[in-house]
Amino acid sequence: MHPIHAPFPAGRLRRTRKSPALRDLCQENVLTAKDLIWPVFVREGTDVEEPVASMPGVSRLSVDRVVRAAEEAAGLDIPAICLFPYTELHLKTEGCEEAWNPDNLTNRAIRAIKAAVPDIAVMTDVALDPYNITGHDGFLRDGEILNDETLEALVRMALAQAEAGADIIGPSDMMDGRIGALRNALEGAGHRNVVLLSYAAKYASAFYGPFRDAVGAGSLLTGDKKTYQMNPGNSDEALRLVARDLAEGADMVMIKPGMPYLDICRRVKENFGVPTYAYQVSGEYAMIRGAADRGWINGEAAMIESLLAFKRAGCDGILTYFAPEVARLLGRAM
Ligand code: PBG
Repeated sequence: MHPIHAPFPAGRLRRTRKSPALRDLCQENVLTAKDLIWPVFVREGTDVEEPVASMPGVSRLSVDRVVRAAEEAAGLDIPAICLFPYTELHLKTEGCEEAWNPDNLTNRAIRAIKAAVPDIAVMTDVALDPYNITGHDGFLRDGEILNDETLEALVRMALAQAEAGADIIGPSDMMDGRIGALRNALEGAGHRNVVLLSYAAKYASAFYGPFRDAVGAGSLLTGDKKTYQMNPGNSDEALRLVARDLAEGADMVMIKPGMPYLDICRRVKENFGVPTYAYQVSGEYAMIRGAADRGWINGEAAMIESLLAFKRAGCDGILTYFAPEVARLLGRAM
């Protein structure tokens, strides 16, 4: 794999960097709008766009505005949009019942998007945290996150989303056995073509902070998520999780967060050769946006560079809050 180059001066590696034309011809990886999945936050109301303080440029959108966002995404060639609900406090309970309400915010948004923009893929998140009064992804009892009891709730939640028309379901809860449970339930209910994009290697990360504010789970959270999300020191374990989730019926897998875990993206792609995605999470967005807003870095260039890095690491696509902005930039040709 390592071609022998003629020694200097015959071998000048700068030749292929000489002009934009030569750089284009020799570019190994490319980023396009079609690589992107756009995560959006949904809230109650009509015609509302409520800024998220820790994510400048990102807002919680009412369902009608989410439909407009989906139209915008389709116009920009972005193939998928991913929904995260900001659930009002009075709907958060210990039993998380709102998670499988057929008329909850997410399910209403799915139906509205599918009616208006049928060609865009709608992705959803499966985990209890937006509905849980404890802020956790699973049921909490006596200081412990209950695995098997949580699975039953996740199944109900996913079935309601599939019923509403979700194309891609993304379990982000990190309970054991969830992919198998969801796949069985979906098959049993006749939802044979619903795709499971497993958040297979999801780390217990400090980079989720702004997201927890955006969905209103941050201030409720007691303790941390280290008994179910991965230890940032681990790498082999990510491969075991991916292997397990694929065996249980995952169609696509995700690594999350993104930029601090590019080594994991590369290992997963090389070992399994399956559709592999990374989530450039809220804290990564906030770092780039925050520095760019202060004039410390060139924001547009940093966005593109950070996303190209995922392609180089082997990812087939990236969930990023920069999606529409980057798609517009790519459309203009950099
Ligand atoms: C919750 C979930 C989280 C994110 C996506 N789904 C947060 C968490 O696990 O606490 C984070 C996304 C982001 O930070 O952008 N299941």
